[in-house]
Amino acid sequence: MNIDTTKDAAKLEVNGKTLVMDTIRGVENEQAINSLNLRKETGYINLDPGYGNTGSCVSGVTFLDGEKGVIHHRGYELKELAANCNFLEVAYLLMNGELPNTAEYKQWNSQISENSYLGPSLQILLNHYPSRSHPMSVLASVVLSLNGFYGDLGEERFYQLDMDVVRLIAKTPLIAAHDYRRKRGMQYIPSDPTLGYAENFLHSMFGVNLSPERRKIMADSLEKLLIIHADHEQNCSTSTVRMISSSDANVYAAIGGGIGALWGPLHGGANEAVIKMLEYIQMHDGDLASVIKRAKDKNDPFKLMGFGHRVYKTYDPRATIAKSVVDDLLEKLGVDEPLVDTAMELEKIALEDDYFVSRNLYPNVDFYTGIAYKAMGIPKEMFTVMFTMGRMAGWLAHLLEFREDEHRRICRPRQIYAGSPMRDFVPLDKR
Ligand code: CMC
Repeated sequence: MNIDTTKDAAKLEVNGKTLVMDTIRGVENEQAINSLNLRKETGYINLDPGYGNTGSCVSGVTFLDGEKGVIHHRGYELKELAANCNFLEVAYLLMNGELPNTAEYKQWNSQISENSYLGPSLQILLNHYPSRSHPMSVLASVVLSLNGFYGDLGEERFYQLDMDVVRLIAKTPLIAAHDYRRKRGMQYIPSDPTLGYAENFLHSMFGVNLSPERRKIMADSLEKLLIIHADHEQNCSTSTVRMISSSDANVYAAIGGGIGALWGPLHGGANEAVIKMLEYIQMHDGDLASVIKRAKDKNDPFKLMGFGHRVYKTYDPRATIAKSVVDDLLEKLGVDEPLVDTAMELEKIALEDDYFVSRNLYPNVDFYTGIAYKAMGIPKEMFTVMFTMGRMAGWLAHLLEFREDEHRRICRPRQIYAGSPMRDFVPLDKR
């Protein structure tokens, strides 16, 4: 990995002991103190709930500068990738470190096409979920169960990793589309190898109910949305995937866990929550003031969904791309979506309000993406599934990187214990 180490550049004095540590500088000048020997040499641990100051790895996949609003993948700025590539090219870049050339892309694309099917047993499994089950719960558990279809009993097969990657990228959209259709009493639609990745998903979802012209328009937007979702360095779900992988659990177990983490409304689940919030405002005659008031009230757990980010202290660059995708999509589809006006008004009010300004709270990626999905006719309970389809590439890129990391150890944080001190056991009849 491309990092500079400065020997003995940091010093920590604690309890009469001095620990001298190396500092590390990454390619984009981000800095760290290497505290690997902290506990061994001082007896102290670093307490950092939420890991705001903790670097869990050295990674070469994605760089973020949250102060400047910069994101690049393997050196390529996200907005350039979104403007010029399709999702499969970006997925390849994330996982392989370079954009594919024509021959590599052809091979990658055909591997995905060849694995874009759901076998009969997988369809039977999907058919048995309750109709009311959330699509994220279906997706997480079906992905996990893929190990039952493709894994050896209890034995992780590192040598099959390439195939696991292909299967996950190929089958995730089909699982989502099949779940959508069968809950509505419709048949599974096999994928069409002549269509691109996003277009194939829309075809598998909507079949003949979507004209090829509209499907093409939507697919162009969807490719961009999948790209902006594709990776975001050590976010909650990616760290979960790395954490699960650190026990040498199989790929499907790690990705299933990542899907679970992404589902939460503070993470990828925010796109569903944003639309619910915007619809709530509409139903209450555009009452933006009460939503803003609630978001600022420290006694109310409500947050302005689609706002704020651990890393970004400025406008999320993904939100800028998402907004332009929404504008372009609505114009090309000829759809008038009043939620866009509500979202823009809400954004304007928040960005002029001292509460949000002083805390650097700006729209994040989830603020506008849901509007695009809604315009495509995707139901809101599937919005986080759409995020998952994109993020799958990033999870797999990090998993592959982690597997190759010479410093890889099981991830096992420590704690400060604050429960009862050791005490005598009291038998049941004496308690
Ligand atoms: N609405 C109201 N207040 C907020 C919000 C918000 N959306 N976000 C942060 N704050 C406040 C927070 O209460 C705290 O205030 P104070 O300093 O008075 O205690 C301050 O801003 C700093 O926030 P924080 O809680 O320390 O920030 P965090 O880094 O722990 O949390 C977050 C980041 C994304 C979880 C949070 O901003 C949030 O809950 N946002 C809404 C949910 C959301 O949109 N999530 C999608 C994130 S982007 C996509 C992704 O990661 O998948």
